[in-house]
Amino acid sequence: MMEDQEFRNKVKRIYLGLALFFGILIMGSGGIMYKMINPSFLIFDKKEITETYVEAEDFDKIENGIHLGTGFKDDEGLQTVIVSCTPCHSAKLVTQNRANKEGWISIIRWMQETQNLWDLGNNEAIIVNYLAKNYAPEEKGRRDNLEDVEWYDLEN
Ligand code: HEC
Repeated sequence: MMEDQEFRNKVKRIYLGLALFFGILIMGSGGIMYKMINPSFLIFDKKEITETYVEAEDFDKIENGIHLGTGFKDDEGLQTVIVSCTPCHSAKLVTQNRANKEGWISIIRWMQETQNLWDLGNNEAIIVNYLAKNYAPEEKGRRDNLEDVEWYDLEN
């Protein structure tokens, strides 16, 4: 009778051991599969922090007279322009436009009236000077008129 009981207990222990083993196996392989699908799982973001740091360092680099972070030309007033003109939209919206001083002022007024742009105070003059100098209308907006062209009549 005693032996029978002992035998049962042994079987029970083996059974529990196996159940535990397979449980761990299934959870482990589940984890590995999840990791394959989503590789950033269980990476505790050390790498991402260094990456942002490098990007932030590059942001203020100037190469060939161009500010890398924004694409603005490097000139007096650059930092003021970056601070004032990039919170709401990309710098590209600025750099793809051309205008003289009056033109830039009217763009700024339009944003102040309709887009919640704040009063730029003393910075406005700095910004307008920078923009009118670096993003002025191109001298030749149109091609030259044709001259000395020999016109001919179309026949039929
Ligand atoms: C408070 C937010 C805000 C700030 C700051 C801001 N803008 Fe804008 N700006 C806008 C919005 C909104 C538009 C419209 C965007 C669109 O049409 O998608 C716009 C559009 C523009 C355009 C395009 C206008 C057109 O006719 O298409 C230019 C150029 C521009 N901004 C220049 C500037 C300059 C230069 C500065 C810095 C002095 C500046 N923005 C700062 C909100 C802002």
